[in-house]
Amino acid sequence: MSFSVRRSDSPRSAEERAAILAAPGFGRYFTDHMVRIEFRDGAWGEGVVEPYGPLTVDPASMALHYGQTIFEGLKAYRQPDGGVATFRPLENARRFQRSAQRLAMAELPEHLFVESIRSLVDIDREWVARESDDSLYLRPFMIASEVGLGVKPANAYTFLLIASPAGPYFPQGVKPVSVWLSTEYTRAAPGGTGEAKCGGNYAASLIAQAYAADQGCDQVVWLDATEHRWVEEMGGMNLYFVYGSGSSARILTPALTGTLLPGVTRDSLLTLAHDLGYSTEEGKISTDEWAAGNASGELTEVFACGTAAVITPVGSVKHAHGSWTVGTGEPGPITMQLREKLLDLQTGRAPDEHNWMHQLVSA
Ligand code: COI
Repeated sequence: MSFSVRRSDSPRSAEERAAILAAPGFGRYFTDHMVRIEFRDGAWGEGVVEPYGPLTVDPASMALHYGQTIFEGLKAYRQPDGGVATFRPLENARRFQRSAQRLAMAELPEHLFVESIRSLVDIDREWVARESDDSLYLRPFMIASEVGLGVKPANAYTFLLIASPAGPYFPQGVKPVSVWLSTEYTRAAPGGTGEAKCGGNYAASLIAQAYAADQGCDQVVWLDATEHRWVEEMGGMNLYFVYGSGSSARILTPALTGTLLPGVTRDSLLTLAHDLGYSTEEGKISTDEWAAGNASGELTEVFACGTAAVITPVGSVKHAHGSWTVGTGEPGPITMQLREKLLDLQTGRAPDEHNWMHQLVSA
C-alpha cells in the first residue's frame, strides 16, 4: 500500500530549511507537506500526501462545536547511518484508536497510521536534523468533519499528519522546573477522558497552568479528582519519583488508574530503569508522602517525562500552604542517566535491545 503524492510546488529552499533547523524551538515551523485521509460513509479513503497548507473548514463542522478532536505526538530521529527512524509508533497508533473510541470517533487502522508517518517523513526527510538530539516532531490528529449542529457522533472525519522540526520543548532546556500542586482544578475524573489524548483535556488544563504561573511556578501538578491527594501528572507529562540512590534506587510512577494519560515514554522508562538495575513500581504517592520523603531525604529525585520534552527534572514544589526543594534542586543523576539512555536509543547511538525503533527512511 502506498499513498498518492502531490508535491508542493513551492517547498522551502535548502537555505531556508537550514535557517529553521538551526533554531527550531518547538512547534513553530512546519515541513512542506502533510498527509490527509478522509473517513466517509463508514470507510477510510485513500491516503494523500499533499502540500502543507490551510484547510477549508465548514463553520458547522462538528469538531468546532462539540470537541471531537484527538491527537498524537511522536518523533523521527536521524540515525548514525543517515537513515531516519521513529520510536514505538504502534503504541501511538493504538492509543490513537483508544482515544477515538472514547470520543466515539472512527478508528484509524494501525497500518494507515504508520504508513502516513512513513510517507510524510519520506518526502520531507531533509527536515530531520543531522546533528544534535533535535528531531522531527510528528503530529497526527483527527477532527469530526460532518457538518451539522445536532449533538451526536459525527459520521465524517478527517485525519491529518503534520510535522514540525523540534529542539528542546522547554526554552530553558533540561533545567529543573518548579511545580504548583493544584487543588483548585482537576485534569481528569474517574469515567472521564483522562486516558484519551483529546484536545479538550489540554484546553481544560490551560487555566490551571496560568494559575500555577501566577503562583510563580513553571508547571501545574495534577492531583486526583476525588481526594486531591494522589499525584497524577505534571502539565501534559507523566511523573517519576526516585527513592534512594545508586544501585539500590527504587523508582515509582503513578499507576494508570484510568485518569492518567498512558505515556509511551512513561512505559519505556519502566523497562529502561529495570535494564539499568533499578527496582521499578507503578503505585501511588500522595502529596503528604512526597513532602515527607523529601524532608527525610529518602525521596531523592523527581522528573516528568513525555515525547515532546523527553525528561524534565522537577526542582521545587509549591502549594497553598508551603513549598520545598526537591533533593538538591539540581537535575539528579538517575534522571539524567535515564534521559541519556532513552535519547541514545532513539538516536541510534545505543543498540535497540527491545526492538522499539522503526525505520522510516533508509540511508
Ligand atoms: C508530550 O509530552 O509529548 C505531550 O503530550 C505534550 C504535547 C501536547 C506538546
